[in-house]
Amino acid sequence: MLLASTAADRSLAAFPAGSNGEFNLPPELATVIRSGQGCRLKTADGREFLDFSMGWGSVLIGHADPRIARAVASQLPFGSNFAYVNESSLALAEELIRLSPACEAVRFCASGTEATMYCLRLARAFTGRRRVLRFEGAYHGAHDVGVTSLFPHQPPAFPTADPSSAGITAHHEGGVLVAPFNDLETTAEIIERYASELAAVIVEPLQRCLPPAAGFLAGLREVCDANDVLLAFDEVVTGFRLAYGGAQEKYGVVPDLVAYGKALGGGMPIGAFGGRADIMELVREDRLGAEDDYVWTASTLGGNPLSCSAALACLEILRGDGVYEQLYALGDYLRQQMRHMLKSHGVTAQVLGDGPLAQIALVASEPHDYRTSQHKTPKLARKIMLELFRRGVFLNPMGTKLYLSLAHTSAACDEFCGLLSDTLADVLVDD
Ligand SMILES: Cc1ncc(COP(=O)(O)O)c(C=O)c1O
Repeated sequence: MLLASTAADRSLAAFPAGSNGEFNLPPELATVIRSGQGCRLKTADGREFLDFSMGWGSVLIGHADPRIARAVASQLPFGSNFAYVNESSLALAEELIRLSPACEAVRFCASGTEATMYCLRLARAFTGRRRVLRFEGAYHGAHDVGVTSLFPHQPPAFPTADPSSAGITAHHEGGVLVAPFNDLETTAEIIERYASELAAVIVEPLQRCLPPAAGFLAGLREVCDANDVLLAFDEVVTGFRLAYGGAQEKYGVVPDLVAYGKALGGGMPIGAFGGRADIMELVREDRLGAEDDYVWTASTLGGNPLSCSAALACLEILRGDGVYEQLYALGDYLRQQMRHMLKSHGVTAQVLGDGPLAQIALVASEPHDYRTSQHKTPKLARKIMLELFRRGVFLNPMGTKLYLSLAHTSAACDEFCGLLSDTLADVLVDD
């Protein structure tokens, strides 16, 4: 066997496609990160990247922020996991209950995937119904329902689900119903038709980078109430990012169940789920064996004091004066500059997003759901993303979101837009 030489070669040998599942890169772009600081990354081979992925949005404060590092370091000598309620997890639970109108009680886990999975399990147990409804193109984590109809290439007619991954069974026998985001009429018709078997509707309140149409979330709330169906908000992305109180605060709609993750942990592994006290009661272990609707939840690392200390420090930073004004101003600036660059190169595109999030869609008119947001020229989109990566922007070349953080500045956005402009000049000549 040949001895692998560079870190990238070793990564290609150790990981399928040289990746831990984050995104797919051609082998010549494989890289291995050594460190992060603010909005920049350094790789093992000495390259520097401007980071617009930010740990898939988990590092909203910025890499290696000393306040988060101090919080973690000061907990470390006192233990890293007890798999039981500790002072940090208790303080964090109390803060989540304070900031979220939906959460009367919470539990911690270690990822957003677990958090949405538990919301759905709780909803099925509470209602005694087996089906759940989700929106086409939304992502709710790597579990079966989370990826069903995530990126159907030939989308079936609503409400039929597309597995979007091999090895998935959630869609069998209509276990997952699928509706178009922002289409309240079609969604309401599906909810009404299946109400007697429908446990919950789960929604990303801002789906990927698509904002909810005026009245869509409030309308969902009403239709769910009218049909006795639970409403779950997946706030894994929107939580603490669109507002301190997340989508619940921003859009003024209160779900029955809510899932958190990503930004909450300040870059440390975390997930949390919570909701109405009568629903959350089902997880009480003193009901195990005694009640048919007892819901199993367990997470070895959920609520560990390192993640919870980081989260408490992160929330304290986010409560600071002007934080959300800064995140929104930066996001507005980035999206406006991106629009300007795309237009000046004659690219037919829309720049989506809100708050510190942005995404390019190569479409002529403003999209409102999965189907209308699909690139008209996917090969060109992929080329643009890979070329940006090659030029030193760390981003997900599958073309999903660009994540900003408190460590980004308008100068970093200008640098990104300069690279975007160079990229467009190159790829459009080649095209
Ligand atoms: C909206 C949404 N929900 C859930 C998840 C899953 O979170 P995790 O990767 O922490 O399991 C993600 C991850 O990208 C997400 O974007």
